Amino acid sequence: MDTLTRNRLDSLLREFEDLKPHLIGYPCNQDFDYSELLPFLSYCANNVGDPFHDSNFLSNTHEMEREVIGLFADMMRLPRDDAWGYVTSGGTEGNMYGLYIGREMFPDGIVYFSQDTHYSVVKIMRVLKARNIMIKSLDSGEIDYDDLHESIRINRDVPVIFMANIGTTMKGAIDDVGKVRDILDDLAITNYYIHADAALSGMILPFVDDPQPFGFDAGFDSVAVSGHKMVGSPIPCGVALTRSDYVGRIARSIEYVGVLDTTLTGSRNAITPLMLWYAFQQRGLDGFREIVNECLDVAEYAVARFNDSGIPAWRNRNSVTVVFPRPSDDVVRKWQLAPYEDIAHLITMPHVKRETIDMVVDDCIEDQNNRSAAG
Ligand SMILES: Cc1ncc(COP(=O)(O)O)c(C=O)c1O
Repeated sequence: MDTLTRNRLDSLLREFEDLKPHLIGYPCNQDFDYSELLPFLSYCANNVGDPFHDSNFLSNTHEMEREVIGLFADMMRLPRDDAWGYVTSGGTEGNMYGLYIGREMFPDGIVYFSQDTHYSVVKIMRVLKARNIMIKSLDSGEIDYDDLHESIRINRDVPVIFMANIGTTMKGAIDDVGKVRDILDDLAITNYYIHADAALSGMILPFVDDPQPFGFDAGFDSVAVSGHKMVGSPIPCGVALTRSDYVGRIARSIEYVGVLDTTLTGSRNAITPLMLWYAFQQRGLDGFREIVNECLDVAEYAVARFNDSGIPAWRNRNSVTVVFPRPSDDVVRKWQLAPYEDIAHLITMPHVKRETIDMVVDDCIEDQNNRSAAG
C-alpha cells in the first residue's frame, strides 16, 4: 500500500477511535467483537432472494439468516411456522417492507401514523403513493388516541393501515396498540393492518418484566427491528418480520438466480445476517436480557443525576432514551447528542456507562451556568 493511502486510512481509523466514547445521542451499541468473522470478507457472498427458498447463488448465509428470523419471531411472539422475514439494510427498509405488504393487502387503505414517527415513513408514503394521515402526538411522544379515533371515524369506510411506533426516535415513546385496537373495535373496523416500527425497543420489550403491549399476539402484522442498534454491528442492518401467508401476495419466482423474489432489494448483504447470528450465539437471549436491563438502570441513573442537578430530564417507561433541555451546540457536538427543537436526548446503549453520564451532566451544568452568566 502506498504511504498516502496508508496515512489516510490510519487517520480515519484514529478519528473513529476518538469519536467512539462520545457517541451517546444515537442508539448504536458499540460493544461488539466480530473479529472472528473477518475471514468471510474475502468472499463474494450474497444473500440474494428469499432466505427460506433455494438460490442458484450458493455462497450465501441463508441458513444463519433463517435462524436469526426464528429468534426474532420468538421475541416478537410469532409462532415459527407462521413466521417469514429477512435481514434488511436497516429500519427504513423494514418499515418500507411492512407498509408495502399492508398496502398490498389494502390497496385503498389509509396509513395512520403520529407526528413523532421517524422521518423515513413520510418518504415511504411518497414511494408507495399511499394515502396517509399524520396524527397529533401527546407530549410523551405517543400518538394522540383521541385524534386517531376522530380521524379514523371520519374515514370509517376505508381500511386502516396503522404504523405503530414501538419506541419513537426522539422520546422512545411506545404507541399503545391495545388502545389502537380498542378504537378499531369501537368503530367496527375489520379491515386493518398494523405495522410496528420497533427499531430500538423491539430489542428491549422482550426482555423487561412489564412490557407495553407488543408482538404479534398484541396485533402486529409486521415489524421492523434494527440490528445495528441494540444488537450492535459495524454495518447498518435490521430485521423485517411478518406472517408467511402475507408474503405470498408479493412473491415472484425469478429463473435467472433461481430465487423467489420476496425481498425489497435483489442482492443482499450476507455478512450482516452472519453478524446478527453470531451476536446471539455469543450472548444468547439471557445475555441480552442482562444487557438491556443494565441499559435501563443506567437510563434511570441518568434521569436521577440530571434531576438532582436541577436539569429536568425524563424518560418513557421501558425506554433507554433520556430527554432533557437542549444544551448549546458545543455540548451537542462533543457528545454527538441528537437535538430536536428545544430538547435533546441521550441513549444509554451498552457502551454508555455511569461515568459517561456523570461527564455529560457536568458539561450540561457548566453549559447552563455559562449561559445564565452570559444573560
Ligand atoms: C424509530 C426509528 N425508526 C426507523 C429508523 C430508521 O432506521 P435506519 O436509519 O436504520 O433506516 C430509526 C433510526 O434511527 C428510528 O429511530
